[in-house]
Amino acid sequence: MDIINLKGKNAIVTGASRGIGRAIALKLAELGCNLVLNYRSDINSVQEVAKEIEAIGVKAVVVQGDVSSFEEAKKIVDAAKENLGSIDILVNNAGITKDTLIMRMKEEDFDKVIEVNLKGAFNCIRHTVPIMIKQKSGRIINISSVVGLSGNAGQVNYAAAKAGIIGITKSVAKEIASRGITVNAVAPGFIETDMTEVLGDKVKENIKASIPLNRLGEPVDIANTVAFLASDMSNYITGQVISVDGGMHI
Ligand code: NAI
Repeated sequence: MDIINLKGKNAIVTGASRGIGRAIALKLAELGCNLVLNYRSDINSVQEVAKEIEAIGVKAVVVQGDVSSFEEAKKIVDAAKENLGSIDILVNNAGITKDTLIMRMKEEDFDKVIEVNLKGAFNCIRHTVPIMIKQKSGRIINISSVVGLSGNAGQVNYAAAKAGIIGITKSVAKEIASRGITVNAVAPGFIETDMTEVLGDKVKENIKASIPLNRLGEPVDIANTVAFLASDMSNYITGQVISVDGGMHI
C-alpha cells in the first residue's frame, strides 16, 4: 500500500499547465486523485498535462480561468464540484512575478502581483470553503515562497503577496479547523521552472552557493510536500508554513 494514498480524492490545482503546478497535479494523480487543472491561457500545455493524468487512470478536467477574478475563481470551483462531486484538496499555486527595485516599481506592477498571487488565493479559498464546510473535511494548501519569509531586493510586490499568503493561511486555519479542514502553506526556495529560467546562469550559480543542500530545487520537491499535506499523513498539522528550500532560509 502507498504510504500516501489519495485514491478517490478530488483536487483543484491552479496554474497547472507547467512548472510546480504541473508537478503537483501529476503527483496527486499518481497517488490516486482526480484533478481539476486550472489554466489561464496556455490550453495546449494544460491539455498535455491532462493527457498524462488520464493515462495514469484518474480523471482530469481542464478549466480555464484567471484566479485574480472573483467570478472566474467561482467558475473554477463550481466546475470542480459539478464534474468531480466534491473538493477534497485545493492547491493555490498560480503565481506571477514582476520584479524591479522599489524606486522603479510601477503602481500597476504592484497591484497585478497582489491581485494574482494574494487575491487569487483568497478568491479560490472563499469559494471552496463553503463546500468543504458542508463536507466537514478538506485540505487547503497555499504556495507561498521563501521570499515571503525573508524578503528580497527587487521583489517588494511578490514578497508582500507571499507574506500575505502566510497571513491568510494562519487565519483561515484558525477559522475552520473545527470543521475538519486543514490549511497550510509551502514556502519553496529556488525551484527550476520557467519562472526562474529568466534569471540567467550567473545569478543561479550565486543562489546555489547560498543553499546548504547545494542544489537548486525541482518541482517534484514541492509536489512531494503538497502530497503529504493533502494526505491523512498530515492530519494533525494546520496553520503551518513548510519551507522546501534546501536550507536556504534557516
Ligand atoms: P510558472 O510561471 O512556471 O507557473 C505559474 C503558473 O501559474 C502558470 O501555469 C501560469 O499560467 C499560471 N498563472 C499565472 N497567473 C495566473 C492567473 N491569473 N490565473 C490562473 N493561472 C495563472 O511558475 P512556477 O515556478 O511553477 O511557480 C508556481 C508557484 O510557485 C507560484 O505561486 C510561484 O510564485 C511559486 N514559487 C515558485 C518558486 C520558484 O523558484 N520557481 C519559488 C517560490 C515560490
